[in-house]
Parts: sequence; C-alpha cells; structure tokens
Amino acid sequence: MKFSLFHNEFTEATTDNLVVFIDKAGNPTQNIGLKSLLNRIVALVKSGHLGSTLGSVVTVPLDKPIKSFNNLTLVRAGKLPLSVQEFEKVLKALATSLNKGTVKNCALDISGLKVINQDDLWVARKIPVVIEKAVYRFDELKSKKKPKSKWQTCVVRTPNEKSYKEAVKTGAAIGKGVNFCRDLGNRPGNFCKPSDLVEEANRMSERYANLEITILDEAEMEKQGMGSFLSVSAGSTQPAYLIQMTYAGGNPDEAPIGLVGKGITFDTGGISLKPGAGMDEMKFDMCGAASVFGTMQAAASLKWPVNITGFIAAAENMPSGKATKPGDIVTSKAGKTIEVLNTDAEGRLVLCDTLTYAQEFKPDVLIDVATLTGACVMALGSHASGLYANDDELAEALLAAGQNTGDRAWRMPLWPEYTRQLDSNFADLGNIGGREAGSVTAACFLAEFTKKTKWAHMDIAGTAWLSGGNKGATGRPVELLAEFIRQRIA
Ligand code: BES
Ligand code: MN
Ligand code: ZN
Repeated sequence: MKFSLFHNEFTEATTDNLVVFIDKAGNPTQNIGLKSLLNRIVALVKSGHLGSTLGSVVTVPLDKPIKSFNNLTLVRAGKLPLSVQEFEKVLKALATSLNKGTVKNCALDISGLKVINQDDLWVARKIPVVIEKAVYRFDELKSKKKPKSKWQTCVVRTPNEKSYKEAVKTGAAIGKGVNFCRDLGNRPGNFCKPSDLVEEANRMSERYANLEITILDEAEMEKQGMGSFLSVSAGSTQPAYLIQMTYAGGNPDEAPIGLVGKGITFDTGGISLKPGAGMDEMKFDMCGAASVFGTMQAAASLKWPVNITGFIAAAENMPSGKATKPGDIVTSKAGKTIEVLNTDAEGRLVLCDTLTYAQEFKPDVLIDVATLTGACVMALGSHASGLYANDDELAEALLAAGQNTGDRAWRMPLWPEYTRQLDSNFADLGNIGGREAGSVTAACFLAEFTKKTKWAHMDIAGTAWLSGGNKGATGRPVELLAEFIRQRIA
C-alpha cells in the first residue's frame, strides 16, 4: 500500500473516494466542510445504506461527483472515543472492504477517529499498521494467484507537521514487519527449514548495511557445549542452526536489546510423537523466530537508533533412530544436566542454550518469544500472550507496549513453588513439570538459565496463529515488540 499525507481541506484532495466515519447518531465524526457533501452523507445514512453495527462499511458511487470524489465510503465507527480494539476492528473492516472493491484510492481524515488514552499521532501510526495487516495475503504457493487488489493508495489527512509524516512512515514499516513475520510463519515445513531461516538472515544482512549475521552450525554448537539444543535436532536430517543477527543502529557502547526466537520449523513431538490431527499447525512452531525477524526488519528499515541482537534457535523436531529418547539426559551449555522426560517439550531445550549464549553478549534486557506450550492456549486463549519476567520494570514496559498497540500480553507468575515441579531423580532438572500450570513450569525452566540478566519470556502459543477457516500466522507479537523498542528510543 502506498501512503501519502494530505493537509488541506478535505474536499481539495484529488482522490476519487472519500472515507467518512459515521458515529452512533448517524453523523460524520469529522468536519465536512462542504454543505452539499454533508447533506449527501446524512441522506445516505438515513436511507439505511449503512449497517448499524461497528465496522459496517458501504461504498456508494456518486451519480454526480462532488469535487474530485466519485465515491463515498461510509464506515460505522460508533461512539467515540473508541477502545484500541474497536478502532482496530473499524479500520480493519474498512480496509478489508476497500481491498475487495474496485476503487483505486481513498482519502481518510485522522481527525475522524478518537481513541481512548491515545493522541492523533497514535492514530496516524496505527492506520497504516492495520491497513497493511488487512490487505495481507499469502499466495506464494498457489499456482494461480488472485488478481492484485485495485486499491493501491491511501491518502491520510493530518496536521502539517513532521511528526505525522514520521508516524505514518513508522506504522507502514511496522505493518510490513508484521507481514514479514506472517510470511515466514505461513511457509510450510518443507519451504521453511532451519537452513531457509539462515537464508532469510542472509537476505537481511544484504538489505541493511548495519545488520550483520553470525551462523553457528551443529559443529560449532557442539564446541560450545550446547547438548540440550542439539538433542532436539538429533532425530532430523535437517541440520540445526543458531542464527545471530546484530543490528547496530545505536551508540557502539550501548548494550543491545537481546531478542531470542524459538525457531522449530516443524514440531512432530519427536519420539513423544504428537497426535496426527492438526499436526500441520506445528509448522507455526517457528513464529517466535519469525517475530524476531519481523521486529528487526521494522527497526532496521526505519534506521532506529538502537542496538538489537536477535538470536534464532532453528531446528526441526523429528522422530528417528537417531532421535533423543524419553529419559535421555543431556548437558546444557550452562552445565546443568536435563532429563528429557518428553521430547515434545523441545522448545525449552533449544531456548536454554540459546539464552545462555545470548547472555555472553551482555544485553541490557533479554526477551525470548516462543510458541512454547499448549497450556498457555488453555490459560489465555488467543487474546493475550503469556508474559513472564524476572524484572518488574521490563514486565511493565512490555505490558504497556501491548496495551498501547492492542497486541496484548498478560503477566504470569514465576514462583519457586512451580520450579519445584521440574525436580528430577536423575538430573539437575527435568524438561517437564507435570499436568498442572504447564506454561508456568516451562517459563520456570527457562528462568533457571537467565538469572543474571533482566529477562522476559513471551509464550505466544495462543496468539501467533489462528486455526480454523482463517488459519494463518497473525504476526504477533511484532507490534508489541516494535512499540517496546520505540518507547525506549523516544
Ligand atoms: N510447540 C508446542 C507447543 C504448542 C502446542 C503450541 C499446541 C501451540 C499449540 C511445544 O513444543 C509442545 O509440544 N509443548 C508441549 C509441552 C508438554 C510436553 C510439557 C505441550 O504443550 O503439550
Ligand atoms: Mn513440542
Ligand atoms: Zn514446539
């Protein structure tokens, strides 16, 4: 989508479709300078063309153009100010409708939308994010692509200030980062192997001058003592990789933000094999890694003045004669021995070694993102990511970024009583903690490896993708992470 800004009277715009948000009472929420236009809108709403529910959209061709407008798109925005969730719903409905329609461009006025606790700059930033997300489609692997949408440009009317230009640009880049994350997530296991993630990292380093990569192959990981990580890829013919991406946008002596992503490109469960139904969705088990890619792309493309180091734990979890068996004991890079009681609890096994490695680079804060447990889906469903942290300030900042963007998280406990569920008779700790509080015990496992660093863990098992008819990656929590970083540099 092409976004451009417009500052004059709306009716001076040269687009042929004007978007007007309609409140509960049936009146435009923005100032419509032209009396004839206002009358037309009010008459159209009165005639019942527009549905009464939030997010109803109708595009009406005008028999006589008003200024440059041949079309009017009316959107039911309800009672202002909107919640972040309502705003997103309304704008998504608008974008989805325009994306299916025949109109090439549209003009919309940010002053028509007020959001609780948010200013107009927030609105200017959020509009492109929501539009980019709404027009996204994944048809790389369809032999017949859908025809391109006719809708290609969006003119946003804002005050004539640099900060608004910046906001729209930021939103567009974040939206692209979200969609990059979705592309990687949606790719099936045979098109997204650990080596394919290495290639994506390569492409990132070619695209951005201050982004460099280091690839640790299995031999190097062996040298580093990453016995836990390697126990996961043991059953696969696909080699594992630990990918490090260093974005140096900030002061050279400033400690980086560390982002760690679970990149299990397919999770069969290994010898503790998963049931067949729905197993295809385990191609999404690299969505944590994908969100690190998406966030770093947004930051690098916006040239944000910050240092970020991403670590991707890329492996495939397969059963075979070489696979790790339940009961096997492995030694992590940190020296702790782990009894692998269930080979399907593999995320924590690759993450613990990656977190240990990441801490050698002295990040200011370390955040891992992982589709870690089915239990988190039971606890929080698809509305909030599970958030764990050993530092309250870091937790608050991440929660706030989630509230602010609507990409919400909810904090969960890391109490020692839960850690005790990981006790093992034969090793320093087991890799599962029993039926109860599965998302919490998984987080407690990771916490054992991150004691010296300000660390947070996001369990995105319920938020990273949708199942059912709308099956597909959501791109979460790229918005949350990008907002967290943006707040730090603001
Ligand atoms: N990738 C899965 C978690 C998952 C399952 C995410 C379903 C989304 C939907 C993870 O590797 C896993 O299999 N976890 C096990 C842990 C258990 C064996 C302790 C789980 O959640 O069942
Ligand atoms: Mn698993
Ligand atoms: Zn997994």
